[in-house]
Amino acid sequence: MDSPRNIILGVGAGIAAYKAVSLVRLWRARGHNVYVIPTPTALKFVGAPTWEAVSSAPVHTDPFEDSAHVEHVEQARTADLIVIAPATADLIAQLSTGMASNLLTATVISSDCPVVVCPAMHTNMYRHRATQRNLDLLRCYGYHIIEPASGALTSGDTGQGRLVEPVDIVAKVDDLLCDSFTYPPGTEQTLTGKNIVISAGGTREAIDPVRFIGNSSSGKQGVALAAQAARRGAHVHLVAAHVADSVLEYLPKDVSVTTVVSAQQMSTAMKALSKEANIIVMSAAVADYRPQRTATQKIKKTEDATTVTLTLEQTEDILVSLCAERKKGQVIIGFAAETGTDEEVVNYARQKIARKNADYLIVNNVSGGKVFHEDTNSVTIIDRSGAIIGQCTGTKDNVSAGIWDFLTPMFQ
Ligand code: CTP
Repeated sequence: MDSPRNIILGVGAGIAAYKAVSLVRLWRARGHNVYVIPTPTALKFVGAPTWEAVSSAPVHTDPFEDSAHVEHVEQARTADLIVIAPATADLIAQLSTGMASNLLTATVISSDCPVVVCPAMHTNMYRHRATQRNLDLLRCYGYHIIEPASGALTSGDTGQGRLVEPVDIVAKVDDLLCDSFTYPPGTEQTLTGKNIVISAGGTREAIDPVRFIGNSSSGKQGVALAAQAARRGAHVHLVAAHVADSVLEYLPKDVSVTTVVSAQQMSTAMKALSKEANIIVMSAAVADYRPQRTATQKIKKTEDATTVTLTLEQTEDILVSLCAERKKGQVIIGFAAETGTDEEVVNYARQKIARKNADYLIVNNVSGGKVFHEDTNSVTIIDRSGAIIGQCTGTKDNVSAGIWDFLTPMFQ
């Protein structure tokens, strides 16, 4: 970071606030302008005179203090970067919901510059699912998270939760800013100009008005792929079958979503959207069979019928249809969930890609019910010759990043 920047340091109400004083010193020594905006309670840890002395700038906490200047908007407009250190569990929760009740949260939500969040709290607070979910939401908004360090905590416990040392925050911020000023590392705009349609979730085929044949797909992998593609600049449309709202909320707001119920509805939606698509991804678990007849009334249990027989008919194979109607230059990617040894799984995938005529197949081994509803995954990507072109393991978000990293060079 060579030229002077306007940096806003947001300070949360944590004991590590005292360490953030060095951050101001380090940035000022490099010629940057630093404006400190503590939350009102953060002033209990380090007072305004200290911040004003180290930053040589006035310190405010209340958006109504200088209403004539609409300070939060003015601060947000002139900032090149916002760094929040320490970010407490409470402050992270406020940011994740877009609250704007003090000058700091109002400034963050008014800004369009990069935001770097440096959490610091007790290990249990950090590991709590609420905090992790809120941090995931911040990642979805494009905020950079600098994970806390492990070591001795103020409570006397030891664990992850210490604010990363100020010199390391400065170095990481430099890395981020050199890479790209707007997107987290690894999300360069490599998919700009691509129109991508992705299916996710699992279809349901009605037996009667209250019962259906369904499957265990949560849609998390498809949603993660859609989110990653959008962050890389693609125009993304997701066709979602029974994907929970709590999963869909991880999508960036510019991803369009069509919700469907059955294989038939998914086929209609995918075919319509695919007309303009450069890349199609069928990650949904589509029912292979549906009841030949759907009862219009709830089927009643009768004493003498100890068994019932449902006659099923095959559904359309949407991937096969999309490949058969492939537009010029369109790339079509299928998924395959298989069971068996890793070798067997890849061999099934080779047969499947040939049968379906897809360009790439992303295969995961679901032996023993692995993968469904979990946040982690492990996949192998094969091309139409059956060659393995990549393998990715990790959170579904990391796996999605890996999938796009492997496939993007193939789209050029
Ligand atoms: N698929 C589809 N339409 C179907 C069934 C599957 O478009 N009716 C797509 C899936 O979205 C996935 C790929 O085909 O991209 C492979 O799905 P999978 O269930 O693994 O394959 P099947 O063809 O159903 O074969 P099998 O269940 O026998 O392994």
